Amino acid sequence: MRADADFLRSIPKVELHCHLEGAVPATTAIALACKNGIILPTYDPELLYTFADLPEFLTVYRAVCASMVTARDFAEIAYAAQEEGVRTGNLRYRELFVNPTNHHVPYPEMLEGIIDGLRCAEEDFGVVGRVIPAINREQSPSMARELVEAVIEYRRDEVLGIGLDHNDALGPPELFVDAFQVAANAGLRRTAHAGEIDQRDQVIDSIELLGCERIDHGYAVMSDPVAVEFVRDAGTHFAGCWSSCAWFHPGLPQHSLPIAAMLRAGLPVSINSDDPPMFGTGIGNEYVLAGKTLGWTRAQAIQAAVAAVDGSWMDASDKAALRREIEDVMHTA
Ligand code: ADE
Ligand code: ZN
Repeated sequence: MRADADFLRSIPKVELHCHLEGAVPATTAIALACKNGIILPTYDPELLYTFADLPEFLTVYRAVCASMVTARDFAEIAYAAQEEGVRTGNLRYRELFVNPTNHHVPYPEMLEGIIDGLRCAEEDFGVVGRVIPAINREQSPSMARELVEAVIEYRRDEVLGIGLDHNDALGPPELFVDAFQVAANAGLRRTAHAGEIDQRDQVIDSIELLGCERIDHGYAVMSDPVAVEFVRDAGTHFAGCWSSCAWFHPGLPQHSLPIAAMLRAGLPVSINSDDPPMFGTGIGNEYVLAGKTLGWTRAQAIQAAVAAVDGSWMDASDKAALRREIEDVMHTA
């Protein structure tokens, strides 16, 4: 039986690739900027999230980051992001990226706010939130190392690992070997954005040099069968994002997107929303886009949701419970 949009939205979901600061609606970002006296490129909510390419997108993203200043700001955006995921896509568990070095707020203060918001959302909606501080690769390797040291010094159970994001054309993995090694020694899990547009070798380098068990995006591997075999052998999970992939591969029809090719090739790929309001999407909508484009049956849609559980950094018993919850949908729907 084909999975229709209601079914795709209703599946209990795990999300592995969503940026907290990218999950803020334009109206909220503008309200925060006004409250905190922060300059934005525009105060028109219809225009704030307009950009032509990745560098322009990241410029807007950093301006939005700057608009969050107090622990309460972080608590409110974390709570609202989780609520929206539950409302629009039956989100059950999410690992959220945050870019601490894009803010002028001490890491512990920001983190306490985020954890507070995530805990309140868990109490109110039953959705679990975890945190992945991400290195901004456009900043220096020494800033990256300092961030990892802060994460280790101010350790909280909600923080599972580290990420690496921003423009991969500007900050290759080899610059961050030291920071990732320090993280590995402290038992932190590791993922990195790589191969979002091109830079195929960065996918391989992130696995080999940084020890990443997951890659965010990674679409560029699809241009080389040898790279595909490499990532298959490595068992790498890809945290893909349909809408942002479409955005940064303009002109390609939905069924020709590299994320579609990855799914068709049977790679371990999860479906995620990246920066939902910035790309006009949400976790439920991402499943609708993927499922409709690829003509998923209900069983295939369930399989995709389970792939996200498999790629997550939950412990084994939580994974088993969520897998059961997802697979139960087949019997109850
Ligand atoms: N930070 C937030 N969204 C991102 C993306 N799509 N690529 C790189 N860095 C990001
Ligand atoms: Zn991302």
